[in-house]
Amino acid sequence: MQITSFKQYEEDYKKSVENPEQFWGEVAQNFQWRKPWFKVLSWNFNEPNIKWFEGAKLNITENCLDRHLATNGDKPAIVWEPNNPEEESVTYTYKMLHERVCRFANVLKRNGAKKGDRICIYMPMVPELAIAVLACARIGAVHSVIFGGFSAKSIADRINDSQCKVVITADGSYRGNKQIPLKDVIDDALIGCPTVAKCIVLTHIRTPVSMLKGRDVWWEDEVKHVNDICEAEEMDAEDMLFILYTSGSTGKPKGVVHTCGGYMVYAGYTFSNVFNYQPGEVYFCTADIGWITGHSYIVYGPLSQGATSVLFEGIPTYPSPSRFWDIVEKHKVNTLYTAPTAIRSLMSFGEEPLNGKDLSSIRVLGSVGEPINEEAWHWFDEKIGHGKAPIVDTWWQTETGGIMISPIATVTPTKPSFATLPLPGIQPILVDENGNEIEGNGVMGNLCIKFPWPGMLRTTYGDHERCKQTYFSTYENLYFTGDGCLRDEDGYYRITGRVDDVLNVSGHRIGTAEVENAINMHAGVVESAVVGYPHDVKGQGIYAFVIYPEMHGEAELSKKDILQTVTRVIGAIAKPDKILFVSGLPKTRSGKIMRRILRKIAEGDTTNLGDTSTLLDPGVVEEIIAAAKKL
Ligand code: WTA
Repeated sequence: MQITSFKQYEEDYKKSVENPEQFWGEVAQNFQWRKPWFKVLSWNFNEPNIKWFEGAKLNITENCLDRHLATNGDKPAIVWEPNNPEEESVTYTYKMLHERVCRFANVLKRNGAKKGDRICIYMPMVPELAIAVLACARIGAVHSVIFGGFSAKSIADRINDSQCKVVITADGSYRGNKQIPLKDVIDDALIGCPTVAKCIVLTHIRTPVSMLKGRDVWWEDEVKHVNDICEAEEMDAEDMLFILYTSGSTGKPKGVVHTCGGYMVYAGYTFSNVFNYQPGEVYFCTADIGWITGHSYIVYGPLSQGATSVLFEGIPTYPSPSRFWDIVEKHKVNTLYTAPTAIRSLMSFGEEPLNGKDLSSIRVLGSVGEPINEEAWHWFDEKIGHGKAPIVDTWWQTETGGIMISPIATVTPTKPSFATLPLPGIQPILVDENGNEIEGNGVMGNLCIKFPWPGMLRTTYGDHERCKQTYFSTYENLYFTGDGCLRDEDGYYRITGRVDDVLNVSGHRIGTAEVENAINMHAGVVESAVVGYPHDVKGQGIYAFVIYPEMHGEAELSKKDILQTVTRVIGAIAKPDKILFVSGLPKTRSGKIMRRILRKIAEGDTTNLGDTSTLLDPGVVEEIIAAAKKL
């Protein structure tokens, strides 16, 4: 199923459009099924109702583990690099990983989990996180991994939305020279989570934790009580595999649902092709498993292909900005897949951290999560790839399950800051505001996808109507991505950023409405409006305009109070970079905030604010501009 020439890409693409069922049916033959499908695809985008590989039975962990045992059992599956470089790295072969996953799957069963139950995972980037994820899949439980940067309240909201029965966590995590008390956060969350019966706690940093009798158990004790034989649960291709919460333009995160069969095929196919993975190579994705990139391209994609996946606990700048390069040298990394924000941050340290580092193992580079600017692209290309490693700028989303538009390493061309061409099976189109297709090249529009692909979301947990409204109602018969896009003269795609009220801060998706809700929860705050502005390292920064008439003491302290509230309500990742206190917001007569004006002010460009005649009180704009200049 690996594409080896541009000609083959063109042929496969053509076939995938002309006869999608045959195309995906053949790709799916490369996976292990307990029972074959009777229909490759049935779909409509109105309800929406999408089914891939109907009737097929499988377990994704048999594809990620069991099927490699006979020939590749002793091959490294996961290489774990700890936060502290003085600590030993740990390698799990496929055999070892299989054994650990089966054992932990039995722990889950012992604690009452069964097929279909939802399980929340809130853990550091340790091998046990991948083991927990796979153990859920082994028994057919649905995992909902929550990124370690979310607060107790965010966790509780997510746990309650999907009524999780079990939580898997650790005492704490290391992040650079900081320690984060994960179990404390979970304890706060669980006060308001009546559905959770059990909490399994891994000892990682050995910080004191409270352990509630009857509810909390230690991971290390539990594994002693079970054996390592666990037959995989037989799953329907369309059974739920996982839920992953993501921000949108409304205040409440949605639980994006992926199913077993289609997701597996899509994650495996795209991993093998986009990175041109070759047997024996070492692949390093720097994302966190708390995000979709980690799900698809640290765990499921690479393991389904028998690859060696590096799992890194720490951050790029600890103990020094050489850390990524040390890891590349130490583990002889062949593929490095990271985010533009990390590249820009490392760029800012100059070339010194690169001195003496042997990066000669690198063959393929990848970028994900946000548009990569040309400067960062060239730096990555020259300094890290030495001009020899193709950069795959991969565009995709939590909802798409896997990479959609991207170069195929060594096969299709790259172009700085362009995601380039759609992968086989992906049919992108650009539409104008009225949903009319914009044809031809050298055009811009809103990016939609007009035909299903196996990795696409099936619903949003507990609220199918919301899935329909968010993705399938803006334009009839199209999946709407929320992204703006340029198709250049050569037909190459360049993603220009979100066209809805979603920010992309350091590659993390954050809805402005969510941040506003959090700020508005601060006592005394009357109203707020949040917009993004260009940020050198983060890509976008968060700019909050806040009406807080009777603030508590000095303005600077009041800002810190608000940041504290946002940290409590969402988590530190959503803290505004700038807060401006204002007496009013620019509103239309119908009461709608004119964000366009606030965005301009946040960008520092107030020369042309456009038509302000419909504003209720144009004077407020002058006041905000004057205050913003002083910030
Ligand atoms: C943005 C991350 C430009 C985009 C996999 C999308 C990108 C959102 C790229 C999804 C890219 C992701 N170039 N923009 N290569 N990749 N995006 O759900 O706005 O965390 O809609 O998935 O990130 O973010 P999410």
